[in-house]
Amino acid sequence: MAGLAPSLLSADFAELKEEIRKVEEGGADFLHLDVMDGNFVPNITFGPPVIKSLRKVSTLPFDVHLMIDRPERYIGDFVNAGADILTVHAEATIHLNRTIQAIKSEGIKAGVSLNPSTPLNVLDYVLEDLDLVLIMTVNPGFGGQSFIKAMEDKIRTLRKMIDEKNLDVILEIDGGVNLENAKHLKELGVDMIVAGSAVFGAEDITARTQEFKKIIE
Ligand code: DX5
Ligand code: ZN
Repeated sequence: MAGLAPSLLSADFAELKEEIRKVEEGGADFLHLDVMDGNFVPNITFGPPVIKSLRKVSTLPFDVHLMIDRPERYIGDFVNAGADILTVHAEATIHLNRTIQAIKSEGIKAGVSLNPSTPLNVLDYVLEDLDLVLIMTVNPGFGGQSFIKAMEDKIRTLRKMIDEKNLDVILEIDGGVNLENAKHLKELGVDMIVAGSAVFGAEDITARTQEFKKIIE
C-alpha cells in the first residue's frame, strides 16, 4: 500500500484553504508543498509565510519540497513555518551531509530529492540518515509534465537499496503520476506518490483523491 501526497502546485491559489480541505476529506496522507526559487528551477512559487498561514488550516503532515539553491540557508524558516518533512535537492547543496544533519537537529524529518539525471550513488553515504528519498520522475519546475519512463529502473534499484539495508526510509516519487500509471508505480515499491495536476485538475477533487487512494491501496 502506498500513500498519496497531493501537490498544492496545481491547486487554485486563490482558494488554498478550501483546496486543502478537499484533499483532506478525500484521505490525503501528506500535503506536498513545492517551493521554487527561480534559480534552481525556472519557476517561482511560495515560501515560508504562505506555509505558515496554511499550517493553521490543516492537520496534514507538511511535506515540503525545496527546489531552491543552497537550501541550508532557510532550514530554520521552514521549520518555523511548520514543515514536518524538509526535502532538499542533492544537486542544490554542496555539503549534503551537513544539510541533512541540520534538518534533523531541528527535530523534523529529512529528505533528499534527486533530479532524473542524478544517479542514486549520491545517496551512498547518507541513505542511513534519511527519513525520505524523493525521486523526481519529471524535471522539476512545473506540474503537468509526462512521467520519464527511465525512472522505473531507478525506483526499483532504490527499493532494493532500502530493503537490503532494512532501512525505515520513505520512497516517494514526484511528477507525471496519474490514475493510469499509479498502480504500476506502486507495484515497483513506491511508498508515497506525489500528484498535482491529476488531483487538483479534477472536477471533484475529493472524489479524485479517494479514487487515487483506492488504486494505490
Ligand atoms: C514539479 C513538482 C511537483 C509537481 C508535480 O517540479 O515538484 O510536485 O507538482 O506535478 P504533476 O503531478 O502534475 O506532474
Ligand atoms: Zn514536488
